[in-house]
Amino acid sequence: MKTIIEPFRIKSVEPITFTSREERETILAQGDYNLFLIRAEHVLIDLLTDSGTSAMSAEQWAGMMRGDESYAGARSFYRFEERVRSLTGMRHIIPTHQGRAAEKILFSIMGGPGKVVPNNSHFDTTRANVEFSGAEAVDLPCEAGKDPDTIADFKGNMDVAALEDFIARTGRERIPLCMLTITNNSGGGQPVSMANIRAVREVCTRHGIPLFLDACRFAENAYFIKLREPGYADTSVASIAREMFSYADGVTMSAKKDALVNMGGFLALNDDAVAASARNLLIVTEGFPTYGGLAGRDLEAIAQGLDEILDEHYLQYRIRSVAYLGDRLVSAGVPILRPPGGHAIYLNAKKFLPHIPVDEYPGQALSIELYLAAGIRSVEIGSVMFGTYDRSGALIPARMELVRLAIPRRVYTQSHIDYVIEAVLEVFENRDALRGVRIVEEPPMLRHFTAKFKKVV
Ligand code: F0G
Repeated sequence: MKTIIEPFRIKSVEPITFTSREERETILAQGDYNLFLIRAEHVLIDLLTDSGTSAMSAEQWAGMMRGDESYAGARSFYRFEERVRSLTGMRHIIPTHQGRAAEKILFSIMGGPGKVVPNNSHFDTTRANVEFSGAEAVDLPCEAGKDPDTIADFKGNMDVAALEDFIARTGRERIPLCMLTITNNSGGGQPVSMANIRAVREVCTRHGIPLFLDACRFAENAYFIKLREPGYADTSVASIAREMFSYADGVTMSAKKDALVNMGGFLALNDDAVAASARNLLIVTEGFPTYGGLAGRDLEAIAQGLDEILDEHYLQYRIRSVAYLGDRLVSAGVPILRPPGGHAIYLNAKKFLPHIPVDEYPGQALSIELYLAAGIRSVEIGSVMFGTYDRSGALIPARMELVRLAIPRRVYTQSHIDYVIEAVLEVFENRDALRGVRIVEEPPMLRHFTAKFKKVV
């Protein structure tokens, strides 16, 4: 059979709410044209994020009932620890309430003023945590990763020559660790090849720099390696994932993605001294080391989710269904970041709306219209999220102006995706009529979450 089907059937359903365009106009105006500020119940198809939005399996829910809620030494912790250790091979497994809590702890210990952290591309919370510690975050994506139209297998790769150059210029002593984000979310959900992980490992080893993986979407990355990298077609995704982790000294993980849970994360690492400091911080900020900000039931659900995510029927359906959305848009001429990533399709707002200048935020304008036209919530990943200002107050725009349609895991069916395709095509037809936005209020950090906008008239 050629048809790739959802490898599950549905046991529990949740209604979604239909609204009219007129109602959505009012809702969005009340939310100051920021899709983070509207109620989820006013969204029909929610593609804001693939984070914490997975549907859990019957076995995960059963695990919730088995959760051991003992304060110290809970059975659920040991199951979680065993599962994470057998996957990552790390000595120390530290549960956190989500990925950014692992980042906060890691960079509180290893970051600090004067330090510089290289990454293929920092995600926004990772960058924020590096900077919050007083350190500087530097992105070193490969050339192909900088161009939304280049078709390449591993656009998430780090530029290894740029890393060498960066180390030579910066000095090893200022670089506490190097990070690779797999898949590369800010760069379009693009995978990193095993060869690139190995090459970065080699450079790090030569300079004595620890390598950490930001591993939220490790299984999607591993599946791309199986599909695309010579020599891996007959290797199981589980073995590929273990090999990826074998090159790392540590891992930060948001379990809200590839562990198929609604909340959770961990920091895993080999260094005894850093782990001891991390556990001290964990006790102050998250909780005792055998629960670290999570309930026993959450730890059970993560352990189970980490098994399920490596099911190759699931991964085939996952990667194929995201590509289905991308391929249909491409064949209708819609500019997207190519090729399709693992967890999302990124519309190229700069090309979609060439008449809107970057300081009128074409990505935000596009995500607003997708909501107004069809009740679809997406997220701008462009100059609203990553833009900064120069001394004169002029916008320093982001490298790309993207709108991400993130696909929650095991949640939407093909007809939902067909509806999304129809909506994007309709907005594309009417694109000339769209206008940009201005920011009227913004916080000093992570402004996309709470900034207020006005439409340019
Ligand atoms: N690293 C990456 C690559 C991420 O994509 C995220 C979250 C985090 C770290 C932080 O994890 O949310 O559990 O604290 N990404 C979400 C997203 C929010 O929508 O892409 P967290």
